[in-house]
Amino acid sequence: MEVRLSNHGGRQLDHVRGALDTLPKVVREVDGRTEAVVDGGFLRGTDIVKARILGADAVGIGRLECIAMAAAGREGVVRMLRILKHEITTCLGLLGVTSWDELDESYLHRALPVDPPDVLSAIPFLDLDCPYP
Ligand SMILES: Cc1cc2nc3c(=O)[nH]c(=O)nc-3n(C[C@H](O)[C@H](O)[C@H](O)COP(=O)(O)O)c2cc1C
Repeated sequence: MEVRLSNHGGRQLDHVRGALDTLPKVVREVDGRTEAVVDGGFLRGTDIVKARILGADAVGIGRLECIAMAAAGREGVVRMLRILKHEITTCLGLLGVTSWDELDESYLHRALPVDPPDVLSAIPFLDLDCPYP
């Protein structure tokens, strides 16, 4: 049994807070009684590191798995997981830590998005000449 935080990919609940924004409060309320799993927008290893720092025990992956599957089937999903693992290891190394336990919220800094959200935000690796701004 675990607590799952999700806005279902932002499709139906696209005007509510992001699952990650609610994570610290939920983790505080749960207070170690069960595990917390969060999903929504995890595309890079660094995203997963941020979720772990905010208290997640695990993250769920939806669209990224679909993209990997569409690109190369089963091998694509395996490659995607290997890339995520490499990105996580690199991120932890660059942060100067050797385990999750060494991380805390002092490693995070809230920043404005580099790009404003647009119609392709959900699929950032798609290289389309999109007619929308
Ligand atoms: C192909 C696909 C179908 C999905 N169908 C549903 C659904 O029927 N109901 C639902 O609540 N969430 C659905 N989701 C959302 C997932 O349960 C999950 O919350 C979401 O994909 C996580 O965010 P991410 O795709 O950014 O990783 C779907 C996601 C994908 C990729």
